[in-house]
Parts: sequence; C-alpha cells; structure tokens
Amino acid sequence: MTPSDLYFRQLAVGEMANFAYLIGSVSTREALVVDPAWNVDAIVDAAEADGMRVTGALVTHYHQDHIGGSLFGHRIEGLSRLLERAAIPVHVHRDEAEGVAKVAGVSAGDLVIHEGGDVVSIGGVRVRLLHTPGHTPGSQCFLVEDAGGLDHLVSGDTLFLGSCGRVDLPGSDPEAMYRSLTGTLKKLPDETLLFPGHLYSSEPHSTLGEQKRRNPFLRVTTLEQFLGFVGV
Ligand SMILES: [Fe+2]
Repeated sequence: MTPSDLYFRQLAVGEMANFAYLIGSVSTREALVVDPAWNVDAIVDAAEADGMRVTGALVTHYHQDHIGGSLFGHRIEGLSRLLERAAIPVHVHRDEAEGVAKVAGVSAGDLVIHEGGDVVSIGGVRVRLLHTPGHTPGSQCFLVEDAGGLDHLVSGDTLFLGSCGRVDLPGSDPEAMYRSLTGTLKKLPDETLLFPGHLYSSEPHSTLGEQKRRNPFLRVTTLEQFLGFVGV
C-alpha cells in the first residue's frame, strides 16, 4: 500500500467558532492554509512548529470570518496579514474572486482563479476544488485526495455536522445549495472524512456516511422539502 503523504491539521480560531486548516505534504514539508483568519500568525506558526512551510492559501468563500475584513465595525485579521508575511498564491473560485479581493483588501493579482474540478497538488497530495454555490456564489469545498489514506472533505460553510450553511444572506441561493448538497457532496463516498468551517456541533468532524444518515439537509430528496427545511 502507498504510504500516506498527507499532513492535515484542524485549528480552532477566533470568536465565531471558525476552523482554519493546514493541508500539506509530509515529503515536501509544504502546506496550504484554508481560510486564514482571526490570528494568522498563530496558524502559520503552528505549521512552522511542525516543520512545514506555508506555500499557498485556499479560500472557501468571501465572508470576513474566513478571510478577514471589517465586520460590524470590528476588524478581523485575514488574508492581507498572510500576504504581508509571505507572498503566496491565494486560490479562489472564479465567482468569488471579486468579493474576496474587496472584503479582505487584497489585490486581484494575489488571486489564482479556479473553476470547479481544478486540482491543486502539494507533494503527493491532491486537493480537488469542488464548486458548491448556495451559501455564496463561489463557495468551494476541498476534497483532499491522499493516495495512502482516506479522503478528507473541507466543507467551509456549505456543510456542517447536522446542518448546512445559511442561505438567507446576500448572494445566497437556496436552490443552488440544494444542488450542491444533494448533487455534489452527497455523491462522495461514505468513508470520506468531513471537516466543516465552524464548530456548530459537539464533535469537530464526522464522515459523509454519518451525515448522509443523520443530517436532515442531506437526507432531503426534493427541492420543495429542502426549501421547507431552510424556511424560504
Ligand atoms: Fe460564511
């Protein structure tokens, strides 16, 4: 069996129960940071303490608690602090690029624009970018494919343990969320490990199989049922 090359860490950050993630390669000692916000130095320091170098960032979506920015008059640290520390590429979905630049205060030239299905490789680890609109137009989930172990899904604010992301915000689209959940995420294998963008449950992670059995927002079978659940 191929030995696993995956380095993976879930880090609780900030005052809104967010999770940032580090996804890297044990062999190359390089890592990508997912949704660097709140205390960027602590996230990068955690990687460096493990002997890893942060070489890129992945953005699930443009909300301030995931990438930094101004929220209700409060300044949340994020991408701009990361880029002060190191000039590294920031991977975003095409439909989210404008929002990311504006909200986080970074320039368009810092962003690498992606379509759904693109792959960002790091050592022997492949990160497949899944376009999962609904919470925001360019929301993306990251399917971490490790040849020597189980796949990990980093789901941002699209799928939580027992629930899904809000669809009543500006830019939200409940019908798109239904399609992202049932047409994209529900098709992933049951053994896929699930890592959400917030700690909104007693456990910090789950599996897709567990969520397919227990999460009402994945169990729905019709759009009407889903719209009833989310109350729109
Ligand atoms: Fe969000």
